[in-house]
Amino acid sequence: MEPSFRIADLAAHPAGLLAVGVAKAAAAAPPRDSPAARLDAATKGALRALLASGDFTGRTGESALLYAPGLEAKRVLVVGLGDAALDPTAARLAAAAAARRARELAAGRLALALGDRIEREPELARAVGEGLVTGHHRHTAYLSDGGKPALTAVELLVTSKPEAAVREALAVGVARGEAVCLARDLASTPGQDLPPAALAERAREVAKRVGARATVMDAAAMERLGMNCVLAVGRGSPHEPCFIELVKEPAGVRAGRAGEKRGSAKPPTVVIVGKGVTFDTGGVSLKPREGMSKMKYDMSGAAAVIGTFAALDTLALPFRLVGLVPSAENVLGGRSFKPGDVLRALDGTTIEITNTDAEGRLLLADALGYARRLAPEAVVDLATLTGAMSIALGRHAAGLFTADERLAAELHRAGETTGERLWRMPLWPDFLAEMRGDTADLVNSNERREGASCTAAAFLSHFAKGMPWAHLDIASTAWTYNDRPDAARGPNAFGVRLLVEWLESRARDGAPEPAPKAARRAAK
Ligand code: BES
Ligand code: MN
Ligand code: ZN
Repeated sequence: MEPSFRIADLAAHPAGLLAVGVAKAAAAAPPRDSPAARLDAATKGALRALLASGDFTGRTGESALLYAPGLEAKRVLVVGLGDAALDPTAARLAAAAAARRARELAAGRLALALGDRIEREPELARAVGEGLVTGHHRHTAYLSDGGKPALTAVELLVTSKPEAAVREALAVGVARGEAVCLARDLASTPGQDLPPAALAERAREVAKRVGARATVMDAAAMERLGMNCVLAVGRGSPHEPCFIELVKEPAGVRAGRAGEKRGSAKPPTVVIVGKGVTFDTGGVSLKPREGMSKMKYDMSGAAAVIGTFAALDTLALPFRLVGLVPSAENVLGGRSFKPGDVLRALDGTTIEITNTDAEGRLLLADALGYARRLAPEAVVDLATLTGAMSIALGRHAAGLFTADERLAAELHRAGETTGERLWRMPLWPDFLAEMRGDTADLVNSNERREGASCTAAAFLSHFAKGMPWAHLDIASTAWTYNDRPDAARGPNAFGVRLLVEWLESRARDGAPEPAPKAARRAAK
């Protein structure tokens, strides 16, 4: 999709669907010169009549379809912009609602009139770009008729040509939206068609496109290194497990080949890790059959990492970004790892398997062990780790586990900004104590339901020791159950927008001033 700005009068512009933004304050009387006022005038009061009915009030995310005379467009969708102080979230959701409805109606051509601030404020233009692309997206790869046809044109109606910065911002929003859709498509792809090697291939393509390096370790390479947890999880499957590493050098530093001499000063490194279980049957500790088909999205963390890399050409990062994806299929077979088996993780920790369905933390144990060798200044992992996450928080937030206050604040803020909400969860040592074993250093499950998300996170904390690290359990949020303006039902690529926003904020703000000693003590 390539949305563009177009100087045109909304009433005279032909379109399959014309979307017009209406703010809440406009409910009484649309402000003069606003698209809402123009719509009302051209349709001889159709908008006022709609508002008077009370069926539409201009709330964010609200929309109503009108068939009114006086317009070249076939139909009009009025979309709520919320409070008059239009913010990027409202702009994003309004654009998403318009694109989504336009596609449902097979409208072909969509024209949008969201007000003149869109043509002046880059942040709003970017949000509109993101909203259009994510609202329009459907995973249609397996529909024999291709589903509802994609829109052929999307035009943002404006009164004057926007400045270059605004046009650029729209393009950035579109690119980020496309990165989200790429991650959605990955997570929506059935396990049959996306085994670890195929996931790695997709990661390679993305890396190539954005000028990142991709290295994929196969089973033999992992064996040499001692990534025994990834190997064990993948052993029951005919599809070989792998470990994907993506590296993007800081802006201004050219990617050298491995082993090549680079500048002497090592750039600071930020690591993002994604759980890449391409299908999770539970293994020998087989899952119940209800809803198991969803487990194709058990690589949503990996999709978030790969999607974030796909957005890197819209970011100039002053640090090296490393993406790590341990990937395996967790199935049941003669070679599968079993309860009672003891694994030695990359960092030497021994783990007794008590439940083969607690496989995500095993992949992450090796990945965190690997991350430690990179001496990163921050590590964030994303994983559909525990079903208990949605018992704790419903579907309204992902769990944020970290002992690092800076990371907690940064990630939490990024979540508020993007609407990919995070909620802080505890990492008390008591949880880790529950994971100590008799036979081995740790067990991979304490076989209790109570606090299962917290014991899983505590298990990870053992492998993240000494690193500024945060764990996001996205099992509660990575699947959309009820259609939203910006996300159809199914895997939603939770985390891409959050990570992009977080990385951008880190690039912008740099390292924070260290707090004065007294303040640090008070915070303890
Ligand atoms: N992939 C699942 C977690 C999951 C469940 C994600 C439901 C999304 C929806 C994970 O590998 C798993 O099976 N976790 C177990 C852990 C338990 C065995 C300690 C769980 O949550 O039941
Ligand atoms: Mn599992
Ligand atoms: Zn899993």
